[in-house]
Amino acid sequence: MTVPETNRKLVTSLLATAFVLLAIYLEVTFDSQLRDLLRAQMGGIAAQADTLVNILRLVLLGILAFLVVRAFGFLIFGVAHRFRRGYEAPSLIRNVFSIIAFTALFLLIFTLVFPNVDLGALFTTSALFGVILGLALQDTLGNFFSGISLQADRPFQVGDVITVGTNRFTGVIEEISWRAIKIRTFQNHVVLVNNSTAAKEAIEVCPRDNLNARLVYFNALYTDSPAKTIHTVREAVREADNVSQKITPIVRMRNLGDNGPDYELKYWLDDYAKYNDTDALVRQRIWYAFRRAGLNFAYPTRTLFVDRPSKQGLREGIDDAIIERLSAVDIFEPLSSEETAMLAHAAASHIFAPAETVIRAGEPGSSMFVVHRGRVSVQIDDNGRPRTVATLSEGAFFGEMALFTGEPRSANIVADEETEVLEIGHDAMKHVFETNPALVEALSQIIAERRQALTDSESSSPTGSNEPAGVLSAIKRFFGLK
Ligand code: CMP
Repeated sequence: MTVPETNRKLVTSLLATAFVLLAIYLEVTFDSQLRDLLRAQMGGIAAQADTLVNILRLVLLGILAFLVVRAFGFLIFGVAHRFRRGYEAPSLIRNVFSIIAFTALFLLIFTLVFPNVDLGALFTTSALFGVILGLALQDTLGNFFSGISLQADRPFQVGDVITVGTNRFTGVIEEISWRAIKIRTFQNHVVLVNNSTAAKEAIEVCPRDNLNARLVYFNALYTDSPAKTIHTVREAVREADNVSQKITPIVRMRNLGDNGPDYELKYWLDDYAKYNDTDALVRQRIWYAFRRAGLNFAYPTRTLFVDRPSKQGLREGIDDAIIERLSAVDIFEPLSSEETAMLAHAAASHIFAPAETVIRAGEPGSSMFVVHRGRVSVQIDDNGRPRTVATLSEGAFFGEMALFTGEPRSANIVADEETEVLEIGHDAMKHVFETNPALVEALSQIIAERRQALTDSESSSPTGSNEPAGVLSAIKRFFGLK
């Protein structure tokens, strides 16, 4: 109820109360004169004149009782309930209170005004009347009692968003009356669902004081990295208006679709009743974020694979970046540009998701890796828990120990974020080894240092020598070098 409406009702009620009180005062003051006057009018029949005056008194007191009950109802369910809970009590509860309180008060007034009338007899002799009334009010009473049972369960409140009815109407509850639930839909229509219908059906309730979530779907291309897509979307929507700051939105890949991976974004709303606007805002944010990050939405595509013999220079664009990366790796410094280009051609690129294992300790290995993009952790087992002993970022290499000594992998390598690594196999390395003794020496130095670091971390003790000279001869032996 709006404030001006409440004020208007308050003034009307006060005026009506003042008027009724005045009428009662006049009736009581001029009671005997009024009775005499009526007796004179009715030819001296005293009983009839008294009954008429008593009925007038009953009516006036009845109106006063009605106004008092209304005032109490307003104070208890309007003011006090709003003060405690923040909103007014449902009108169904107010109506039930008004009916019971008014009936009790009226019966009390009735027995005071008509002390000789036996009310019990009046009710018991009207059984037939009761049956007729009951049949006529069957639906109304059904709604009334369904309304009471719904309110007793308290499954929803005014202001909650619900979906109800055979047509699955969705909207915000405006009123719960003794007959129906009034819903305002998101097209600003008003829908009334009978209490008895609502009591029989499944109702989806999104309570106003609950953190309700929404799912928004989108897709991307298979060429777009999932980790980047997920990160981009999550960051783009978390600050959007009405997206709750209490829980970080979740982005998940839900399907590998025909045209690209399908994703779902789950986010929580501060005000669920505004989910249409928020969904739209979130989609808009995703579009802009995709644009900035160079990501693409999937559209119906058909990929045609043409198998052509590989041409020299086909991988040129890719190789340039790889050559640049390998030339920046310190151990490859002594290599000529032709040798670095040869290594780049031989290198295979692999992408790992965050937390994916690149290398597992104890497994055999015949290749080494250079971190092209991203970051990895070197982890050893510490009483069943992984412990990070080093972190390697772009330009660093790993996996050289097993490759050059033939021993099992000495540690786990796990991607910290989405990481692209370049894998270089045994044959390519053997080729550059034969012409670059300085490279073998630099490597044996590094392997010895890393081994020492592993030995220092108490729970791991790699096999083989920790001395550069020992490592050098092991490498030479393994590679068949002089
Ligand atoms: P490899 O033993 O083939 O597989 C695990 C790899 O972890 C290992 O080669 C090294 O490349 C790397 N590694 C082991 N210990 C360290 C360390 N202390 N610092 C950096 N890298 C390491």
